[in-house]
Amino acid sequence: MDRPLRVAALASGRGSNLAALIAAGLPIDIVLVGSDKASAGALAIAASAGIPTVALNPRDYATRADFDRALFGRVADAGADLLVLAGFMRIIDASVVADWEGRAINIHPSLLPKYRGLHTHRRCLEAGDTEHGASVHFVTAELDGGPVVAQARIAVGPDDTEASLASRLLVEEHRLLPAVVGAIASGRLRWESRALFDGLPLASPLDIADF
Ligand code: GRF
Repeated sequence: MDRPLRVAALASGRGSNLAALIAAGLPIDIVLVGSDKASAGALAIAASAGIPTVALNPRDYATRADFDRALFGRVADAGADLLVLAGFMRIIDASVVADWEGRAINIHPSLLPKYRGLHTHRRCLEAGDTEHGASVHFVTAELDGGPVVAQARIAVGPDDTEASLASRLLVEEHRLLPAVVGAIASGRLRWESRALFDGLPLASPLDIADF
């Protein structure tokens, strides 16, 4: 590609992963940040970085699919090559997701396939795991179920709480997401019906040290 990768992001919340992506200074154009919540911190972070934003209210749409089509339509209109879900807290209609196969990634705070969905830190503690982590995966219609491309790991100690795990893991998320987006921007990581890294199918998720 003879131009920077065009990236859009969707976020429902505070937007610290978006902030990390912006701060990483990658050779990308962040063309749009969208949200289902007008009050999302992610929108304020984007606006102060001069990135166009859009917030659509799901209540203004008759069905979930109508809302998803509208929001993802805005992403497409912005010319995004890659869509990053960075704390986008909605299940997305399967037909809408299908249009983005291999072009959308999500960051999830667990070592997938463990703990899809919510309360991942609590579930990790309840299971007595000695290790926790975050995953970046390609998005499919299955919630947190697409092919995992990279993971960051942290050790779980006896004194850890949900809050301590969340804050230690967030530091790793802020390294992992820009690393993956950077690898897509450079062409090292790409999708051809499956994830390829340096031209080879991924046998297992990449580690931050692999980038
Ligand atoms: C992160 O923990 C991310 O893994 C999950 O939602 C959270 C978003 O945090 N999908 P932030 O809005 O990026 O601060």
